[in-house]
Amino acid sequence: MSTGMPEHFMRIAEEYRTLRETDSPPITVIQSHLPQKPLLGADIGCGTGRYSELVLSVLEQDSTLHCVDANEEMLAELKRRIMSTHGKTVSPIISPAEELPFEPEKLDFITTFNAVHHFDLDRFLKEVRRVVKPQGQAFVYTRTQEQNQRGIWGTHFPGFNEKENRLFSRKSIEEAIRRSLGLAIKSVVEFVFQRRKKLNELIEKAKKHHYSTFALYDDTELTTAIDTFKRNILKQYENPEDITYDDENTLFIVQA
Ligand SMILES: C[S@@+](CC[C@H](N)C(=O)[O-])C[C@H]1O[C@@H](n2cnc3c(N)ncnc32)[C@H](O)[C@@H]1O
Repeated sequence: MSTGMPEHFMRIAEEYRTLRETDSPPITVIQSHLPQKPLLGADIGCGTGRYSELVLSVLEQDSTLHCVDANEEMLAELKRRIMSTHGKTVSPIISPAEELPFEPEKLDFITTFNAVHHFDLDRFLKEVRRVVKPQGQAFVYTRTQEQNQRGIWGTHFPGFNEKENRLFSRKSIEEAIRRSLGLAIKSVVEFVFQRRKKLNELIEKAKKHHYSTFALYDDTELTTAIDTFKRNILKQYENPEDITYDDENTLFIVQA
């Protein structure tokens, strides 16, 4: 049986950080766009907070970061992990991205990492526009549909592209920002990260649903797909102990 997404995130909350790579280059870009003063921001769809933590690390003292997620288990994990904040305030909030619990024009910035494909994008952007100050910013970090298709899973894992029909193309995100009235695209940065893994590590990631896409397979389907993936990789790479591939992501920098 395939699982619904809230159940998926509830099940993997504890292990989520070990299953996914956390990349710091987008944080460096975000930092370069933020004013150097205490700020009030929110990380939406923060999950266990692995990126919230990185955002916090580049904020000035006396800043506040609201960590917002719809899933209680993910947020509970965040509360367990983000202990010390060095003069910055972390405020975990359970809320859907489409109805943010903030007053109008309250925030300096919003971030969202690897989550926007779970949101109703138009309603989320409407909320972004409502809650960020004039000249405030939003940073939307995601794998686009085309990046997903070019990746190791999209290329070698049967059914991955067909199942993963939630991700937005770069064009559809750009169009959603343009039609949001009041938000403009400041810039778009594409990242390529080189990964190196053993075949067994990749298989473990699929079995443990490191991308929620794998939760869209039923058990038999996933087992069969993993076997085919294994064969495809062995055809493509000489050494199953040394698989190199690229992961790609895009950062949309949005100005109110
Ligand atoms: C793939 S995880 C990403 C978590 C985190 N940003 C990261 O990169 O580690 C997606 C997160 O979005 C949350 N989420 C999904 N739909 C949501 C919604 N409509 N509103 C708020 N959070 C949502 C999930 O509970 C999950 O924690």
